[in-house]
Amino acid sequence: MKLNIRILQKDDVKQTYVDWFSNKEVIRYSNNQYRTFTYEGQISYVNNCLNNPNIDLYGIFDKNHHIGNVSIIGLNSPHKRAEITYVIGNTDYWRKGVGHFAISSIIELAKNDYKLNKLFASLVENNLSSRRLLEKNCFVIEGKRNKHLFFNGTFYNQLDYGLLL
Ligand SMILES: CC(C)(COP(=O)(O)OP(=O)(O)OC[C@H]1O[C@@H](n2cnc3c(N)ncnc32)[C@H](O)[C@@H]1OP(=O)(O)O)[C@@H](O)C(=O)NCCC(=O)NCCS
Repeated sequence: MKLNIRILQKDDVKQTYVDWFSNKEVIRYSNNQYRTFTYEGQISYVNNCLNNPNIDLYGIFDKNHHIGNVSIIGLNSPHKRAEITYVIGNTDYWRKGVGHFAISSIIELAKNDYKLNKLFASLVENNLSSRRLLEKNCFVIEGKRNKHLFFNGTFYNQLDYGLLL
């Protein structure tokens, strides 16, 4: 694998990217299960991110193959903190260290380029891969919100993680 992340451009939007969100495994613990995904919709989403100084949306690539996204949201915050979200949409790449590569890359950018003080992320308590990913990158649990999320007919606890940079 030759992994890299870079700001996602409109030309990067392909039908395979749209199709990530048809995979129940990918959206199991995500608000994406409440959204409808189309090619035009993803072009518009990428365009909105490009025009929004508060958000940077990065694509995760293996060479030139788009396999996931990691976003950093809240760049204008006076508190110098931002939220991260991430998805490896191509499940052939799960459990191969791609998530770790993406999160460690965004942490470096947050420190060195964005000059932030803190990153944070929220997830479903049962999302073990995502929890492991954050904990491996030194995020710590800062709070728990009971039965805060409703996915696929079940209420789940939400864990809020933070990382001081
Ligand atoms: C969460 C996600 C990004 C993980 O990506 P990934 O590329 O598979 O992660 P990595 O290969 O870097 O693995 C990270 C760690 O999690 C562990 N892990 C991965 N899948 C796991 C699972 N199902 N159960 C337990 N641990 C798991 C890995 O073993 C690794 O830990 P280790 O280095 O100690 O062995 C990916 O599964 C995904 O995109 N899921 C759907 C979207 C999502 O849930 N996003 C997060 C919303 S908050």
